[in-house]
Amino acid sequence: MSRAMVYQGSRVSRPRHYLMCRPTHFEVVYSINPWMDPSRCASADAGLSQWKLLHDLLVDLGHTVDLIEPSPGLPDMVFAANGAVAVGGQALVARFRHEQRAPEAAGYLEWFGLRGWREVRQADFVNEGEGDFLQAGSRILAGTGFRTEPKAHREAEEFFGRPVVGLTLIDPRFYHLDTALAVLDNDEIMYYPGAFAPESRDLLAALYPDAVLAEEADAVVFGLNAVSDGRHVLLPAGTRNLAGELRDRGFVTFDVTIAELLKAGGGVKCCTLELHTHADSTAAGGS
Ligand code: ARG
Repeated sequence: MSRAMVYQGSRVSRPRHYLMCRPTHFEVVYSINPWMDPSRCASADAGLSQWKLLHDLLVDLGHTVDLIEPSPGLPDMVFAANGAVAVGGQALVARFRHEQRAPEAAGYLEWFGLRGWREVRQADFVNEGEGDFLQAGSRILAGTGFRTEPKAHREAEEFFGRPVVGLTLIDPRFYHLDTALAVLDNDEIMYYPGAFAPESRDLLAALYPDAVLAEEADAVVFGLNAVSDGRHVLLPAGTRNLAGELRDRGFVTFDVTIAELLKAGGGVKCCTLELHTHADSTAAGGS
């Protein structure tokens, strides 16, 4: 019998703190991932109204959402998840792989600096923030293969003083960890196994034997690029089995239409950087 069928508890949401960036200057004018095709028209207005529904839903669910000012000429800045990794008063600001996004880092250094975070600095190694670093309970899951480099994993481990588990991505469609894996609750995740190298697949299977495994059809609509507060899971509209499986496990799901931003290869999670003020569910951090 699957765990889904025996799940009887009630899911508890914990209020979260997110940082988002309005897609005021959103467009697709370069291509740094396989989803981006500058010849297809992408509209900032459509992006903005879809983004706003996501923003308002997070607020309606009781979460705090802060905003960082969008900069002209930085069309991918809407994908705030990439700006930093922020845990317990410490923020490690991104060092982007591609020059088109590199200037975004200055905005995040300023944002965290002005708000009195205890320790703020830019990563020395290529590090694309929560795109590749996801906090799962007391550990941090970290992706590499396309953007973030393995040395950045060690750097984050030292900076945050918590274990970082490295995972290698092998399918260019899933170029950031958060396109292939989502943390649902401290020790509960969902992922698409086909995105990972065999050793990483084995590692995930050993660490998370009860994980929700997504199929390719749900991964390609960015179903894994989801945001969970422990009870509510926000994921893109259009998944086939994923939302149903999550509901079977006691989660409340919300379909979010984010099609315009998907033209840049970003979805629900990419738009939200979680400011983890608690280092994990039990220990309080604080910023
Ligand atoms: N166009 C952006 C890029 O390629 C999309 C970033 C998506 N963000 C994410 N957290 N997966 O960098």
